[in-house]
Amino acid sequence: MYYLDELNEQQRAAVEHVLEPTVVIAGAGTGKTKLMATKVLHYLEMGFAAENILAISFTNKAARELRHRIWRLTEERDMWCTTFHGFAYNLLKKYGWSLGYVSHDFQVIDDLEQKKILSKILSDDKFLNKYKREHNNQEFKIKVKLGELVGIVSDYKVNRVLNNDLKIDESLHVLTEEYNDRLEKNRVIDYDDLLIKLVQMFINEPIVLQVWQKHLKCILVDEYQDTNELQNFLVIMLSELHGNITIVGDPDQSIYKFRGAMPDIMEKFTKSMRAKVFVLERNYRCTKTILDAANSLIESNYVPYEYIEDYSHHWEVESKDYKDEWDEMLKTFFTSNDPRANLQTAKAISQFKGLSKTVQNLIDKYIEQFEFEYVF
Ligand SMILES: Nc1ncnc2c1ncn2[C@@H]1O[C@H](COP(=O)(O)OP(=O)(O)O)[C@@H](O)[C@H]1O
Ligand SMILES: [Mg+2]
Repeated sequence: MYYLDELNEQQRAAVEHVLEPTVVIAGAGTGKTKLMATKVLHYLEMGFAAENILAISFTNKAARELRHRIWRLTEERDMWCTTFHGFAYNLLKKYGWSLGYVSHDFQVIDDLEQKKILSKILSDDKFLNKYKREHNNQEFKIKVKLGELVGIVSDYKVNRVLNNDLKIDESLHVLTEEYNDRLEKNRVIDYDDLLIKLVQMFINEPIVLQVWQKHLKCILVDEYQDTNELQNFLVIMLSELHGNITIVGDPDQSIYKFRGAMPDIMEKFTKSMRAKVFVLERNYRCTKTILDAANSLIESNYVPYEYIEDYSHHWEVESKDYKDEWDEMLKTFFTSNDPRANLQTAKAISQFKGLSKTVQNLIDKYIEQFEFEYVF
């Protein structure tokens, strides 16, 4: 089949390994997303209907790119290519209300809103006094900063659903209960709740789960290194009946470690699904320059705007006479006469974790501007 000829040997083996759990491990630029898009095409060629295929990626941005690549390869516009949260949102809209898991007009709140609600609770005398009354006159005390609290409450909520044994302060437990109550009263749910409520619905309503296990005959998940335990649980739950599941990820790129994504999550998946593991070794995107910069970035884990200057010697900049940041970026990074090579560089840079917001925005703008002009 023609499309398989565009893959290297390892990619091809992973694409052709169907109907059984497949794990693909590889670094950035080794063709993981290409493999996923091609596997979708392979399923279509095998006779699976597009509606029975689900492709998931971690962020909206990654899901958009995946959808675009699948569409370019398969010309299939109706593929369900989404994020975990998008998937959960849709299913909860469909069944969650009638089955009593969410209110019919539920809204999802973001990190900022979560912080606001937590901060309100922490300064609410009624709550603090009630805690004191109910805890032998002990003051309510929490040892973490507000910024970290969102993540801690989130971990606690997720682990509780999974029945993980988690040692936790009484105050944090009471705070989480109060936080959940307030969400419910306001008819809002947070991002964790989207997944928690979906998993609870699947556990308590086996018929709904079975319908979806049968419906989603092929499941593919990209960027698996950023998956948390609850998402891993959900993926296994959905696919264990048929085992036709492919997960793809780069263990070195996990950016969400601090929010509960475990570096060994792929290993966990591999063990519980007894998956076959494929490793991609050949890198298609990285020139030595990009690799050097990527490695420095991963080492330092923090990149201020000066990044452009810090690493500019890699790109052999001659003139530093820039009109503005946009002009500087163009002259610094995208020096090739071949716009496609520049676009590849931009995409490679955009994958680095820890870029400053300014650099990230400039790179995104660049990709957006040129992506649809040059197909490679
Ligand atoms: N077998 C291959 N032959 C030629 N180019 C490839 C191959 N696999 C991937 N590529 C190209 O390499 C680049 C990186 O691929 P991508 O799938 O985005 O990698 P990853 O998801 O691992 O970061 C893309 O431009 C892609 O088209
Ligand atoms: Mg990718």
